[in-house]
Amino acid sequence: MELRDALRGTGAVRKFLPDYVDDAVLFRVLDDARFGPSGGNRQAWHVIVLRDVAIREALGALYLDAWHDYVGHVLEGLVPFSPLATDDERSLATSRRGDAIALSQPDGFAETIASAPVLLAVSVDLGALAATDRDLDRYQIVGGASVYPFIWNVLLAAHEYGLGGVMTTVATRREPEVAQLLRLPATHALAAVVALGRPEKRPTKLTRKRVDEFVTVDRYDGEAFTGQ
Ligand SMILES: Cc1cc2nc3c(=O)[nH]c(=O)nc-3n(C[C@H](O)[C@H](O)[C@H](O)COP(=O)(O)O)c2cc1C
Repeated sequence: MELRDALRGTGAVRKFLPDYVDDAVLFRVLDDARFGPSGGNRQAWHVIVLRDVAIREALGALYLDAWHDYVGHVLEGLVPFSPLATDDERSLATSRRGDAIALSQPDGFAETIASAPVLLAVSVDLGALAATDRDLDRYQIVGGASVYPFIWNVLLAAHEYGLGGVMTTVATRREPEVAQLLRLPATHALAAVVALGRPEKRPTKLTRKRVDEFVTVDRYDGEAFTGQ
């Protein structure tokens, strides 16, 4: 497929046909994705292909539990897990967990993630990350940039092979339990759980900001960059 089409048309897919995804196809996806960039080219990611039903279900239960926290934030009108949220906002969101659970749908993505045709857990070795912002007095963001381009490559490569999927991070809320379940080394963090499969339907029109809405000239408050 054309690169531009892939860039503009790889939307999140959360509903899959029950088709089996061949290991050889998954291997090709990962074999293409591995060319993603990372700080110092350290490639600190590790991928676990989840096959065991009991492990998948245990991970799915942790995901769903964390998802209820996410929905609690949404119900409170908050950006879920924003590093800038106040303690008061966070506790309001927590108080909406019951409402979030009541909204659960048996066929929702969070409720059925364990049965996705392909389920990958991607961890990253913190000891190999070039986290250049680690000494700043603010939330740290740079380390993730050494693993999420790879994960995005997985989704782009999957698209090329007729698959769709979504990267998810809510399970990281329950990282200690996930780490135990998957026997992650102590230096590893859970970066994402990725679900893949043949899409039931592929999104065609993605909602994204226009360039002039987020690009400015010379200063943050400079004029909008319009390319003219
Ligand atoms: C870092 C990151 C974390 C995400 N975490 C989740 C998640 O935990 N659960 C989920 O269903 N989707 C998750 N997503 C998918 C986003 O919701 C999705 O990419 C976004 O809403 C755009 O959706 P669209 O491609 O359908 O327009 C995540 C995406 C990114 C990039």
